[in-house]
Amino acid sequence: MMVPEDRRHLFVIFGGTGDLARRKLIPSIYRLITEDGLGDDCVILGVGSGDYDDAEYRAWTRSALIDAGLSEADLAQWSDDNVHFHRVRRDAASLDDLGERIAAVESEHDLPGNRVFYLALPPSISPSIMERLGEAGLHESVGWVRLVIEKPFGSDQATATSLNKLVHRWFDEEQVYRIDHYLGKETVQNLLAFRFANPLFESAWNRDRVESIEITVAEELGIGDRAGYYETAGALRDMVQNHLTQVLTLVAMEPPVSFSADQIRNEKVKVLEAIAPIPDESIVFGQYEAGTIDGEMVRAYRAEDGVNEQSKIPTFVGIRMEIDTWRWQGVPFYLRTGKRLPRRLTEIAVTFRQPPLCIFHGHRDSCGIGPNVLLITLQPDEGFTLRFNVKAPGEPLTIDSQALRFSHDDAYGELPEAYQALILDVIEGDQTLFVRGDEAEASWRVFDDLLDHPCDPYPYAAGTWGPATLDASLALGGAEWTGERERSREGRDGSTPLDSES
Ligand code: BG6
Repeated sequence: MMVPEDRRHLFVIFGGTGDLARRKLIPSIYRLITEDGLGDDCVILGVGSGDYDDAEYRAWTRSALIDAGLSEADLAQWSDDNVHFHRVRRDAASLDDLGERIAAVESEHDLPGNRVFYLALPPSISPSIMERLGEAGLHESVGWVRLVIEKPFGSDQATATSLNKLVHRWFDEEQVYRIDHYLGKETVQNLLAFRFANPLFESAWNRDRVESIEITVAEELGIGDRAGYYETAGALRDMVQNHLTQVLTLVAMEPPVSFSADQIRNEKVKVLEAIAPIPDESIVFGQYEAGTIDGEMVRAYRAEDGVNEQSKIPTFVGIRMEIDTWRWQGVPFYLRTGKRLPRRLTEIAVTFRQPPLCIFHGHRDSCGIGPNVLLITLQPDEGFTLRFNVKAPGEPLTIDSQALRFSHDDAYGELPEAYQALILDVIEGDQTLFVRGDEAEASWRVFDDLLDHPCDPYPYAAGTWGPATLDASLALGGAEWTGERERSREGRDGSTPLDSES
């Protein structure tokens, strides 16, 4: 019989008082403790340059939990004793004293030496911390040691390669968990179940049946107070190379031989390797101008605090991609993401091929048959919608369009936070939802030639769906997004009386 791994551990958060720790990590650990039975198995050690002692950090974590919507009564399940803080000097040359502190906390809680090192740090700082962890010998322990690295992992293929070399100087790949929080979203994980537990769809999931696939990640938000980071990243680095590409690989991959981390990641890497070079005319960059969202005026990107007035950084990217495999050759994949779009929406639209002929009346394009469309909405209003054609009752014969709908919320209620799922996987040693080193490099390779595109992005008004230029509509397969078209049909009867056609 397999003995379950001892999961009592020390959870070390570098950037322990930072925004990520406050908004995501501490609340997720709370839910793991209270909902997933983690209990006293997790002892937290926040690490940072802030002037905190244990008592002050305990107060800080409690206020983070209150900010996350918990009540004082909920906090009865939160044990202050399991929370510690260690201050490091910004200019400290080594982490030797951290090693001593870790040993002391482990001994106080009688932990077996299992450690998570979570680098909740800006990408400019993480490499030196990895180096110092290794030099201090903290990559090894009598228990297991796992390193969690936040995105972005490098800023192009070359930097990702050298970051991998640095990581692997000290850590084995089995110890490394590169986060892309989209993989922790329940609906993104469900893509695998949807595809590989439903042979009905899988048998139509190919170039013979699929006309095109759109992946949309739209955000209402602007850049907030992140100008410093965003001015060096832009939408291609911030969203496309990671979140959208991860979703693309799950949509396009072949069935893995088993549901193991490496088999799944092998298949994802094959998709990345098969993506054809993207010509200039297949990519459109945009940048938001002032506009109105939800009735409120918002300013232009170039007028945001900390943004260069002449900035050419794109806040919108649309790309037409092709995947040169037997399954997908010739099928366009459209990826689009933008900030300050009309609303928050992450969605995959699979448009299936139409029947070869219309046997009812007239020409196929005018006989009322629309394509079957499968909309997979990843957030918000998570669920699926499948549009199909039916005969409307009565005469004359009329083709109508109807939709089948599955809603996650109706079936299962509220979905867990992505970080909760990912942190649990780190603690349980499951790397399936994390980006492997070669995968990170392969996904940078796809975009390397496009990263520092010198052209001016097309302007678009905040609150619109991105640049409405001819170039944009040519590159992106038309001016209208499938999801928007489908939604605008909802509530209408969608029928077309065939006899009314000339
Ligand atoms: C982050 C990006 O990785 O993802 C942000 O840096 C973006 O710019 C965010 O807003 C979107 O995540 P979600 O989960 O809100 O879709």
